[in-house]
Formats: sequence, C-alpha cells, structure tokens
Amino acid sequence: MNIKLQLKKTATDFNNYAKKYLSSHKEGTTLWDAMNYGVVNGGKRIRPFLIIELSKLLNIKKTNYMRLALATEFVHAYSLIHDDLPGMDNDDLRRGKLTTHKKFGEAVAILAGNSLLTLAFEILANPKTHQNNKIRVNLIANLAKMSGSTGLAGGQSLDLLYEKKRVSEKEIIKMHNLKTAKLFEFCMLSPLILSGKNTPLKQKEYQKYGKNFGLIFQATDDLLDYEGKKNITGKHTQKDLKKNKGSILKYKDSKEIRLYCKKLAKSATITSTAFSKSENIFNLLIHNIIGRVC
Ligand code: IPE
Ligand code: IPE
Ligand code: MG
Ligand code: MG
Repeated sequence: MNIKLQLKKTATDFNNYAKKYLSSHKEGTTLWDAMNYGVVNGGKRIRPFLIIELSKLLNIKKTNYMRLALATEFVHAYSLIHDDLPGMDNDDLRRGKLTTHKKFGEAVAILAGNSLLTLAFEILANPKTHQNNKIRVNLIANLAKMSGSTGLAGGQSLDLLYEKKRVSEKEIIKMHNLKTAKLFEFCMLSPLILSGKNTPLKQKEYQKYGKNFGLIFQATDDLLDYEGKKNITGKHTQKDLKKNKGSILKYKDSKEIRLYCKKLAKSATITSTAFSKSENIFNLLIHNIIGRVC
C-alpha cells in the first residue's frame, strides 16, 4: 500500500465532505466566512485520516464516521486559528496563506474559533452521528476532556507559560502530550466508542497509539520549525527559537529527535494486536510521519 497516495485520497474525500457540509450550512455572515476559511483553507487532514481508517477497520457506517471526522477537524481548525492570534504565537502565515485573523481581523477570528469548537459538539450531539444517546454523550464527554483545560487548551497555556520559564525535557513532553497528543488520542478512541465494541484492552492499545502518534507529530513539528522549508510547510520557520518556545530542540538535536520518534512508533505498534504487522496502515503511517516534511 502506498501510504502517501492513501493520505491524499482520504484527504480529498474528507475535503469534499467538509465543503458540502459547510456550504449546506452557510449563514451568509463574515463570521461564517472566517469559519469556512479556517477549515477548508488546506490542511493535511491527518486527524480525519486516523478516524476514517480506524472506522473502516471497525465496520462503522460512513454516514456516522464522517461526522466524527468533521467534528474533530473543526476542533483542530479552531485550535490553529487561536494558536496564530497575536496573544498566542502571533503568526501571519498558515497553510501558505494569511492566517484567519490577518484575513478577517482578530475579533472575528476569535469568534470563528469559538464557533467551530461549539459546532463540533453540535455535530456530535446530533442523532445523525449515532442513534444511541449513550454513545453520543460518551463521544462528547471525551472530546470535551481532551480539548479543554485537561487537554489541548491546557497544553496551549503551558506552551505560552514556558516562553518565560526554564523548563525540563519532561515538562516539554508533558506539554506536547496535552496540546497535541490528546486530540490524536481522541481520534483513536472515538471510532471505538462509535463502534459500540469498546473493550478495555482495545481502548488501552488504541489510545497509546494516539498518544505516541501525537508526541511524534509535535516533536517533528518542532523539528520542522527549525529545519523545514517555508514553501513546503506553509508556515514561517525558526519562530520557536525567536520566541524562546519550550521546543524539544532545547534538549535533542535532529538525530536524537528521530531516534526518540522511532522508539515511540515501535512501542505503539510492536506488541499491539491491531497494528503490529508492518503492512498495516497504522503501522506504516506512524513510521512514515517521522520523516514528514510538512
Ligand atoms: C499543526 O497541525 C499543529 C500541530 C499540532 C503541530 P497539522 O500539521 O496537522 O496542521 P494542518 O491541519 O495540516 O495544517
Ligand atoms: C500546535 O502548536 C498545537 C496546537 C495548535 C493545539 P504549535 O504552535 O506548535 O503549531 P504550529 O507550528 O503553529 O502549527
Ligand atoms: Mg503554539
Ligand atoms: Mg503556532
């Protein structure tokens, strides 16, 4: 299987679905335009990819899992819009284009982020996502926990705090876990919830994969900030150093980062019942992501 081709195909599928959803819910306001811009304006769609592939493995209906993928990507899009704001990372370039606040102004960007976040929960709460109330509540509770102060937002607050503080490697990795890996953990847990076939063993295995995937993803993001190419990443590079960010590069050079990522990938797959085979799509992806260039 060619993983790059599969990623592209799933991203195209997802983009068509997202565009269709957004255009059929169009509100004709600047706020809506900004929300739309923050979502459809490019993006690798890695989180939808994990949800879609795992859902296929678990025999979930497409009409159900696409809504889950959409809600999760909306949370991710909100996090990027807010991450780029002047009060946070103050970036004017994302996905090779102007950041949402540069295009629509700060106030609209803040509200667009808020609205995408709440829309994600609206999508999950709708019976079209799953007819069983308990399953929907379980999805909502987990997304709330993993995106709020005990997850993504909590990690973002540490990221900002660490600009002004000496931090240990352990603290940096904990921050990576919260700001980035928690949402990946949700990507691996949520299809299991949606399938109604959750077992403690599967849950442990899938969540570990999500966590390790997220840690690799953020470590390679830090590395790309340092040695990536702006025309490929679509973002300004070498910002972390300038802002004194708690980047993993404070403790590891590029070779050590790759080694750290390889260990994480191995430990997420080697003893796993679902991902141990080398031709398995999740096994391929977690190893492939280590060498990503965007
Ligand atoms: C960027 O995420 C922010 C991080 C968590 C590192 P992605 O690299 O997935 O961003 P897009 O959606 O592809 O632009
Ligand atoms: C990524 O933050 C985490 C979230 C957006 C939640 P970064 O600040 O490290 O990501 P980029 O490099 O701006 O995409
Ligand atoms: Mg940031
Ligand atoms: Mg940033």
